[in-house]
Amino acid sequence: MAKTISDNIGAFYQHYPRLVVVVSGSADGRDNAMSIAWHTSISKNPPLFGVCVSPNHFTYKLIAQSGQFGVNFIPDTKAELVAALGGSKGSQVDKFSTFSIGRSNAQKITVPILTDAYAAFECRLVDDRLYGDHKLLVGEVIAVHYDEVAFMENGVLDIEKVNPTLYLGGEIYLDTQQSLPRTLNRNFCVDCLRK
Ligand SMILES: Cc1cc2nc3c(=O)[nH]c(=O)nc-3n(C[C@H](O)[C@H](O)[C@H](O)COP(=O)(O)O)c2cc1C
Repeated sequence: MAKTISDNIGAFYQHYPRLVVVVSGSADGRDNAMSIAWHTSISKNPPLFGVCVSPNHFTYKLIAQSGQFGVNFIPDTKAELVAALGGSKGSQVDKFSTFSIGRSNAQKITVPILTDAYAAFECRLVDDRLYGDHKLLVGEVIAVHYDEVAFMENGVLDIEKVNPTLYLGGEIYLDTQQSLPRTLNRNFCVDCLRK
């Protein structure tokens, strides 16, 4: 396959599509959640998970203050919520009440886990490092939540039951029910889900 080679790097979106997850945070009695496409598992032992968050985001401030965060895996049936959480600012709205987000209690941290998540990690912040314009926040995974119905016996996600939210970039998500890409403009989703 002939490829174009360029040193005009731009936003180097060629690594998409990505699974979008929701990072939840809480401090001083204020809960918040935001969507991120940039995240990775880092180590199995100890269990470490990294999320890349701009230090300008309200969620970052909550995580830095509390030293903890949640990582929530949301089914594609709730992709509008994922888009809305990425199109609204916790400094301006209470996203949990605006979007009627259900909270489940975490076991080891004081950050809400989203009821809509088919799986979630409770993380204790172990490193907070600036790389360019984003922070790499490394969390030790200290509790795992998962819906047993969503996973097969070998731990693999059963995509006949649940599909993850896959983001192609440019506000386009994969509709796994029909295997068709669909556009979910983040500002539109903020308005359509707003109470
Ligand atoms: C699909 C999608 C993926 C995103 N990925 C990231 C990301 O990886 N890191 C990041 O800092 N912001 C990301 N954002 C932007 C934030 O979610 C957005 O700026 C949000 O408003 C921040 O919320 P907060 O200010 O309440 O913390 C993404 C947004 C969308 C819609």
